[in-house]
Amino acid sequence: MLDRKFHVRTFGCQMNAHDSERIAGLLETDGMQHTDVEAEADVVVLNTCCIRENADDKLYGSLGWLKPWKEAREGRQIVVAGCLAQKDREIVRQKAPHVDVVMGTHNVHRTTELLRTARDRGAVTEIFDEAVLDDHALFPSALPARRETSYNAWVTIQIGCDNTCAYCIVPSVRGKEISRSADEIVDEVRMLVLSGVTEVTLLGQNVNSYGRDLALAARKAGSTETKLRPQFASLLSRVADIEGIRRVRYTSPHPKDMTLDVLQTMGAKSTICEHLHYPLQSGSDRVLSLMHRGYTAQKYLDRLAEARSTIDDLAVSTDIIVGFPGESEDDFQQSMEIAAEAEFDSAYLFIFSPREGTTAAEMTDHFVEPSVAGERFDRMKVVLDRSAVRKHRARIGLLEEVVVEGRNKRDPDMFTGRTRQNKLVHFTAEDQLRVGTFGMVEITDAARFHLSGVLREVTHLPTHRVRLPVQAAI
Ligand code: 5AD
Ligand code: SF4
Repeated sequence: MLDRKFHVRTFGCQMNAHDSERIAGLLETDGMQHTDVEAEADVVVLNTCCIRENADDKLYGSLGWLKPWKEAREGRQIVVAGCLAQKDREIVRQKAPHVDVVMGTHNVHRTTELLRTARDRGAVTEIFDEAVLDDHALFPSALPARRETSYNAWVTIQIGCDNTCAYCIVPSVRGKEISRSADEIVDEVRMLVLSGVTEVTLLGQNVNSYGRDLALAARKAGSTETKLRPQFASLLSRVADIEGIRRVRYTSPHPKDMTLDVLQTMGAKSTICEHLHYPLQSGSDRVLSLMHRGYTAQKYLDRLAEARSTIDDLAVSTDIIVGFPGESEDDFQQSMEIAAEAEFDSAYLFIFSPREGTTAAEMTDHFVEPSVAGERFDRMKVVLDRSAVRKHRARIGLLEEVVVEGRNKRDPDMFTGRTRQNKLVHFTAEDQLRVGTFGMVEITDAARFHLSGVLREVTHLPTHRVRLPVQAAI
């Protein structure tokens, strides 16, 4: 495969972005070169998402465009990977027969093999229904990576999800929850730190239940540990204590499983960032119950209050769905009230989208009219924007620690960075700054999605020299 170039396009969540890094790492290890320009590539990988409907449209739109791309040069190959491939299987090929490889979420480690098979024997579909246990490639983090940035990294701590949120396709495309051993996670973070990484984000669909399966397995194996205590707080604490780590983040917790010890660990460890992504989904108890979320709006608010009193200067973001089947105007009003009371710093707002195979998709008799859902979206957005602006304006005049992400895309004389609270800051600086530099920025202005400011002091220079493909211990 020498001299061949590849391009990976990612749709969807961080878990997918992380899988993309692994796919790219595998292709590089196999001798191919990465390119940002699709037109230059020999292999294009579309790493898909199926969580909401527009993801399908985006995929099939891209595949239409890639047909002439493929025909223009001999030997070009198209790979469709990720959640939509896992869900749609042969439908992908029926809709786009020019696709060479369709592979599922548990097949990432087989990317290069499948490309070869497709070249020698024609189009191939390979979708494992679940992760192959005892396989070194079970966790995407255990494969070589081609990371987009050198100072921060995602680390998978858990794959799959054991919950049954009525709207969510994830459990059926990502399988059951499997946790990675804490020692392995800590070792990986240590390796990353040695390569110059200063910030890690621990990834899982429901991080609060991290380790439950490990404890269960230990008990079956005869361990005297009888209580199935959640282990996330102790993992978080171990990662936070690793020498050289400056920022630790994680996503996503589940309000029904959030425990006080996690909040206390966040409050106690200076390396853990003051940011909590805390998905509300709805503020109506009736809808929350239809969603199978396992908490009430009051319980959500109580835990949130506890989080804010345990962690100084905490920023909170959330996910909210409007137009869930059966959501009445009254339910929606309750969502607006809870959202207003919660005072989020930022929010991802979604209109319910029926995903085949989920319980909510079968509630067709109760579907909310698209025009009503659209109008609720706009009304909710006003509430969310209002609190975001308020929270952001409250930062004006403060000195915030910022990590440089690069030059500002709109104004190359400015830089862009991120605060500990995960807010984007556009700022001016007298000197050149390398990506990964830490500095103190005085906040001078604020908007809905970002802060603005002036760099006052550089506090830490990046140590990474080269981009690192993390080689797995295979
Ligand atoms: N429709 C709309 N939003 C959804 N989400 C997940 N599934 C759906 C769906 N079917 C949202 C949830 C989740 C986020 C990642 O995506 O808010 O937290
Ligand atoms: Fe989906 Fe619920 Fe699992 Fe999150 S916790 S991945 S929303 S089923």
